[in-house]
Amino acid sequence: MSIKLVEIKSVTKKFMGAKVLDSVTLDISNSDKIAMMGPNGAGKTTLVRSILGFYHIDSGSISVAGFNPAKDRVKVLDKVSFIPQLPPPIKLTISELLHFIHKSTSVDTSLIYNQALKLDLNLKNHQNKPFFKLSGGMKQKLLIAIALARRSKLLIFDEPTASLDPKAREYFYRLLQDIDYEYSAIYITHRAEELEGLVNRHIYMDLGKVVEDVVV
Ligand SMILES: Nc1ncnc2c1ncn2[C@@H]1O[C@H](COP(=O)(O)OP(=O)(O)OP(=O)(O)O)[C@@H](O)[C@H]1O
Ligand SMILES: [Mg+2]
Repeated sequence: MSIKLVEIKSVTKKFMGAKVLDSVTLDISNSDKIAMMGPNGAGKTTLVRSILGFYHIDSGSISVAGFNPAKDRVKVLDKVSFIPQLPPPIKLTISELLHFIHKSTSVDTSLIYNQALKLDLNLKNHQNKPFFKLSGGMKQKLLIAIALARRSKLLIFDEPTASLDPKAREYFYRLLQDIDYEYSAIYITHRAEELEGLVNRHIYMDLGKVVEDVVV
């Protein structure tokens, strides 16, 4: 039986009076892999940022593994890895960042090095470089490596391959196929064809609503 990992009930979120999420209801089970699609401005990023507790919703409810992300953000973020559409401008150097991640999540730093290597990023060559000075694709690779090394229950990728070169894209999809534990994933993407075989659901959003939710 599939257990619900995320429960989203009638969620509405407004920005400056405009409804960006309009009564969204959605369940995600423990092993769902979702391709989330829809036009620019549909509300995809707003929905995942609400799941992460980065935004406070105006009405409705969200629960992640039984926790309210707005109130129990630390507990929710312990179970979820998020690779944002635009990497944050982190000033720490790579080695400082990895040390910080090790301290806060107890993930073995060598696992992150290994995952990054599989994406063709050798972190040993960039130890003293601030994160924000990596190239766009390198930042994306490092964030993916951290997420996979953490073995999170829920992986949320907001257009993760947008800045990856074709080879790195191929490595990324290979890494996903190699994940050896039960997890759920949401891939926000404009290229669903790349996720063939990796997802079991296609969700389309438009104008702040889920307009289609199909098993594939
Ligand atoms: N922090 C914010 N403040 C004000 N408006 C916002 C904010 N974040 C998003 N919006 C608005 O909410 C709407 C939905 O944005 P969102 O980023 O969720 O879309 P999206 O589906 O992820 O689009 P894209 O495919 O372009 O990434 C847009 O009209 C956007 O301008
Ligand atoms: Mg977006």
